[in-house]
Amino acid sequence: MIASPLLEFIAREHPAFVHLPLGLVAALPLAALASFFPKHSKVTTGTAFFLALVAWAGSTVALFSGLLWGRQINLIPPSGFLPVVASEKQVLQKMLQLHIFAAAAGFVIGGLCVFLLWRAWRQLEAAPADRRHGGRRFFERGAGVPALLMGLLWLGTWGFSGKLGGIMVFGNEATNKAAAEADAAKRNDQEADLPVRALDYASLEPAEAAPSRSKAHGDRWRRIWVTASGIDDYQAGKPLRPGAYAVMATFTDEKGKPGTEPGPLYMKETRADGSTAFIFYWARVPESLRKEVAGQDSVYWRSPDPKLITCLGCHEKGGNK
Ligand code: HEC
Repeated sequence: MIASPLLEFIAREHPAFVHLPLGLVAALPLAALASFFPKHSKVTTGTAFFLALVAWAGSTVALFSGLLWGRQINLIPPSGFLPVVASEKQVLQKMLQLHIFAAAAGFVIGGLCVFLLWRAWRQLEAAPADRRHGGRRFFERGAGVPALLMGLLWLGTWGFSGKLGGIMVFGNEATNKAAAEADAAKRNDQEADLPVRALDYASLEPAEAAPSRSKAHGDRWRRIWVTASGIDDYQAGKPLRPGAYAVMATFTDEKGKPGTEPGPLYMKETRADGSTAFIFYWARVPESLRKEVAGQDSVYWRSPDPKLITCLGCHEKGGNK
């Protein structure tokens, strides 16, 4: 990451740095147009050249600060130059990509424009005063029509890039909608960080009056809890209906009795669409048992994690066995 306060400043001030080159490029076509009038054509062409030169040189700071900023806020990978667009929903990344393409295209066009203006200015300087217009075709007068068109194109690409930049900073309908959707998805996924419902098992209906031993789940002591919507089906040995779930809390064995040390939590749920989902949560795996879970000290697996495939092996046969 960026450590130096100077680089930090350059990155953060990107929205400010871009205005100097953009303003100069906006004035450039005016100077180029003025150069078509015979009077002062040399001065106005020179003005157009200097405007373009300062804009072009100044834009390197803007480009550099934009790159730093993009990397600093993790939109651009640390050693990359473009954001990675992984899905259609990444509105901001897609917009940033276009923003960068337009800015870079403007830089290339700008370079060409600077060159054309420099050449026109040099020619005017070299020509005797009375030859500056006489004998020249219209499109060759002053700055020349090609330079004027390049200047307009330059303004167009940077104007477009700037418009996207403004949207990315201040937001528009598309970016706000994408942010709201990401928020809602996170909010609806109550268990993104912790299996909240499994941890709250004691609020469910106990399926058994007392703990018993479960050979199928590591020979631990277990107690099964089921949602009110599923307890009758469970007791009757029927599959759980959509929305219902069962949690199995486990304990270590101490001399043939349920111990006090908690083991993993197992959860099995029938989703709204009828499919079965599993959760395996072991907040703290004792050192001696880590080999059971690939050496991890804490485990939280949720469907469709492939590590839960063993659960399916026994459970997909239906019923609650
Ligand atoms: C060796 C077969 C087997 C494996 C593997 C297995 N289970 Fe089970 N599971 C059972 C059986 C049998 C029961 C019935 C209660 C018992 O015997 O403990 C059960 C019960 C449960 C219950 C209580 C609700 C019910 O359906 O009875 C949950 C929750 C559960 N298992 C989750 C899991 C999860 C999550 C995994 C994977 C990490 C898993 N099980 C792996 C066989 C298995």
